[in-house]
Amino acid sequence: MPRRIFVTTALPYANGPFHIGHIMEYIQADIWVRFQRMQGQQVHFVCADDAHGAPIMLKAEAEGISPQQLVARVAADRPRYLQGFHLSFDHWHSTDSPENTRLSQDIYARLKAAGLIYRKSVEQFFDPLKGMFLPDRYVKGECPNCHSPDQYGDACEVCGTVYAPTDLIDPYSALTGAKPLLKASEHLFFRLSDPRCVAFLEDWLGTPGRLQPQVVNKAREWLAGSGAQALADWDISRDAPYFGIPIPDAPGKYFYVWLDAPIGYLAALESYFESGKAAANGEPRSFEQFLAAPDTEQIHFIGKDIIYFHTLFWPAMLRFAGPPYRVPAHVYVHGFITVSGAKMSKSRGTGLSPLRYLEIGMDAEWLRYFLAARLNGSVEDLDFNPDDFVARVNSDLIGKYVNIASRAASFITRSFNGELKFSGDTRELVRAAGDTAALVQKSYENREFGRAMRDIMAFADRINQEFDARKPWVLAREQSRAGELQDVCSRALYGFKLLSVLLTPVLPAVSGRVARGLFGLDRGFVWSDAQVLPDRINPYEHLMTRVDPRQLDALFDSGVPGAPAANAAAATPAAATAAAATAAAASGNTVLSIDEFRRIELRVARIVRAETIDGADKLLKLTLDLGTETRTVFAGIKSAYDPASLTGRLTVVVANLAPRKMKFGVSEGMVLAASGEGQGPFLLSADAGATPGMRIT
Ligand code: MSP
Ligand code: ZN
Repeated sequence: MPRRIFVTTALPYANGPFHIGHIMEYIQADIWVRFQRMQGQQVHFVCADDAHGAPIMLKAEAEGISPQQLVARVAADRPRYLQGFHLSFDHWHSTDSPENTRLSQDIYARLKAAGLIYRKSVEQFFDPLKGMFLPDRYVKGECPNCHSPDQYGDACEVCGTVYAPTDLIDPYSALTGAKPLLKASEHLFFRLSDPRCVAFLEDWLGTPGRLQPQVVNKAREWLAGSGAQALADWDISRDAPYFGIPIPDAPGKYFYVWLDAPIGYLAALESYFESGKAAANGEPRSFEQFLAAPDTEQIHFIGKDIIYFHTLFWPAMLRFAGPPYRVPAHVYVHGFITVSGAKMSKSRGTGLSPLRYLEIGMDAEWLRYFLAARLNGSVEDLDFNPDDFVARVNSDLIGKYVNIASRAASFITRSFNGELKFSGDTRELVRAAGDTAALVQKSYENREFGRAMRDIMAFADRINQEFDARKPWVLAREQSRAGELQDVCSRALYGFKLLSVLLTPVLPAVSGRVARGLFGLDRGFVWSDAQVLPDRINPYEHLMTRVDPRQLDALFDSGVPGAPAANAAAATPAAATAAAATAAAASGNTVLSIDEFRRIELRVARIVRAETIDGADKLLKLTLDLGTETRTVFAGIKSAYDPASLTGRLTVVVANLAPRKMKFGVSEGMVLAASGEGQGPFLLSADAGATPGMRIT
């Protein structure tokens, strides 16, 4: 009987594009899922956007759109990444969905019936101008410990002290700057400290093999904490205005986002069943039957920052909600990815934009392999270093793996019409292949991908050595030794087939081309193909190119002078606007009076001429017709536009910007362009009918 596994990755906040940390998590889970599918296990792999919460509500408000519109915009971008990195999710849903509303309200009602929900009045900061209670991150003030100014309400970024917002000296609202008032409101709590919960969690955490040892230790620390560190009950409600799921018996109150977010795993699963895709994937039962079945395994892949939610609240909620809900079989935790040793900034990412990676034509399977080589079953962080990346990919994937096929196949095609033939007893060969496959299988199962890649590459080394030792290029010159030549190449190609099978979870596209193209199968590889000798091949076709180190330069050069965002303000309008928007969204100070907006003189301009500048690799010199005058503007858009294509088109210029002296001349204004993480710039234009000089209001 195959295992029946329900796998998720953490639901990403729907307030922005994926960063490399997300992609790393998806690649890790995807490799494991593909591996399980190859073993014949039945896997349902789902995820969803985490749509609710105050930050998304406030960000949407600042943009003048509804939270639903914001979430829809972000969601619309997801498929590019999912397809681009070969991520094989079966379904992608949203926590802002009818399924999640129903499930969250149901679980809440069951917890309440179990006596685990109670009400308590809480005093909290309230912004009198905005008319809302302020989440901790939206209260700022002076650190009570080191007296650094402008610290968040939950912890000081300078000295690391953790405190309550009410501990801040001279607190102010990050939304309006107003002095917040302390105001009481009734909140709902989940009684995590209940002896039943504690006893259950002890048991759940203690089940051998369920969690990584580091994760158990961490969770046990929280569970056993005493005094101020004692396991606290969990505040699960928020007062309106809030973007979330209404609490049925508490008008004006919503579930805190972290209550409905993990339930979103189940909502995604339910929606997947409703869509008919589960049935198409060989699952005849209903969502509820599947969930309740004793042999279903529920497995979550997450990062180390959200262990608390996934190893305490989430299992306890599920356990005390009762059947059909089930507790997670495993929560697999990974560390964080850093880029050249640098931690990721929430607002700027790491500088490694996954979208840019795809857009400049880098091969997704390089990254999949690099990460596989670095990942293991522990919670350790891992680093993306460009030099390591180039070295790993070129020496392993090209130098060791692809190389075997390109060398051996040409002899077989040229001299033997594609036919493989092995001399002597092949049982030993097949047995050795089986041993390697078994070794690698165990590593994949335990998420020891680094070890799997090392064993695979060690095997590739052996194949290359044997091939070289028998000097096929010498054999090829002697007609009498044709049989030997055929045997050498056949063995190498069987080795290559084995390697391809073992690399399939990591390199699904290449593996598919090898299976169908080179070996002529009518399907992709399954694990048992490792022990089947091939009998012929088709002519070798190019499988993968080397990484050019210049691609890494392009990846980290955002195409904008002075980037990353923070110091780009000077030279490019697009980046400046983006940076300002990010900064504003982060601080919440996005409200502009109409008069302030009107001070910006935006006009339609026609690009009369666009020229490259000697010595400037990012700027174009634009000559603009503004109706009554001609201006020169330097714009950092060379990476995205061919100058010739710009001549004659209309765009938007900020006409009352103080002239700026730049290295190549004076810039008399700036043109507007949009850009996202790794995308753009995209110049704005005006619809047909607009004429140069028209004021934009
Ligand atoms: N929305 C919550 C999760 C809710 S799950 C019911 C959340 N979202 S997130 O977008 O901030 O993070 C999503 C996942 O990305 C988490 O597992 C997180 O650990 C992971 N990562 C965020 N930054 C990361 C790295 N730098 N490296 C690897 N993974 C990281 O948390
Ligand atoms: Zn401090």
